[in-house]
This record gives sequence, C-alpha cells and structure tokens, in this order.
Amino acid sequence: RRMVAVRAEGSAINPEIRKTEDKVVDSVVVTELAKPLTAYCRCWRSGTFPLCDGSHVKHNKATGDNVGPLLLKKQ
Ligand code: FES
Repeated sequence: RRMVAVRAEGSAINPEIRKTEDKVVDSVVVTELAKPLTAYCRCWRSGTFPLCDGSHVKHNKATGDNVGPLLLKKQ
C-alpha cells in the first residue's frame, strides 16, 4: 500500500533547509538537453508537475516558505 503525505494548504513544506535564503533554487548544468532551461517543481504546488509553473511564488507568499525550482541548464 502506498503512503502519501498530505500537507494542509497554506502550510510551509520546508521547515529547515537554507531558511536564510529568500528562495531555495539549485541549478545543474547538463551538456545534453533538448531545451536551454527546464525548471522542475520542488514545492508540490505546480499545475504542470513535475515541471515548475511559478506556483511556488504564491505558496511562498502565503506561507512564508522559501521553496523554488530545480533548474536544469544546457551548457
Ligand atoms: Fe513548484 Fe515552482 S511551481 S517550484
């Protein structure tokens, strides 16, 4: 049986990682990508999950959280 963690809307999802930063964003440089930039959602709020659609901005404002996407950049 699969367990799924559900967080209430409006609650932060990042309790401790790099909380001194306005937004936690990480980048990875990859030599072979179809597009120059692809953003993967880490806030679990995207309507286009697993891709980021910018929903983290609303989530961060509502909760005081600081989550942001993982960016894959073509080198
Ligand atoms: Fe989730 Fe951007 S929508 S990180």
